[in-house]
Amino acid sequence: MSATKHSSPPPSPGTVLISEDALQHRVAELAVEVSAALPDREPILVGLLTGSFVFVADLGRELSRLGVHPQIEFIETTHYGAGRRPTGRVELRRPLQRDVRGRAVLLVDDILDSGRSLTKAMEHASEREPAWLRSCVLLDKTARREVPIRADHVGFQIPDSWVIGYGLDDDGRYRELPHVARLR
Ligand code: IMP
Ligand code: MG
Repeated sequence: MSATKHSSPPPSPGTVLISEDALQHRVAELAVEVSAALPDREPILVGLLTGSFVFVADLGRELSRLGVHPQIEFIETTHYGAGRRPTGRVELRRPLQRDVRGRAVLLVDDILDSGRSLTKAMEHASEREPAWLRSCVLLDKTARREVPIRADHVGFQIPDSWVIGYGLDDDGRYRELPHVARLR
């Protein structure tokens, strides 16, 4: 079987907001920004499950090209209680497994929306006393913010609409898409 590179995006619902090429380019730029800010070459990248898994993978590989060799782990927050409707309260479902005391920690998420998830994650990481703690999000829907938080590194500012692809889902679907699309 021959390995071929597919250049045309697969069919998907919605309209493409950020192409695969634009994502690759911006993630490489973000890696340069993050690398310049990091106090050492062996940080801990902490992704927020589940949406960040693609971004963490790509950012990690771009960082390795720059001589940064992170340890990588994931935590999980959820702002859904027992039902499907957001409660406004964010819970920590999976905490940090690794000792981050005295280390450089970069929290990585797919999108900053109300800001509650990243706020919770930053508080949690901060309690573990890292030497350095910053955040990096691929997308930022500033218009939707409910708590005052800014990410230290932001890939793209986007308007207020539901987006899918590159890790982002609609009820668990479309995370595998190589681009980011606006669902409706
Ligand atoms: P926040 O706590 O409201 O900032 O929520 C951030 C989380 O909500 C992200 O990590 C995503 O998992 C999810 N989210 C917010 N907006 C979208 C979207 O447009 N598409 C997919 N997931 C989203
Ligand atoms: Mg998420």
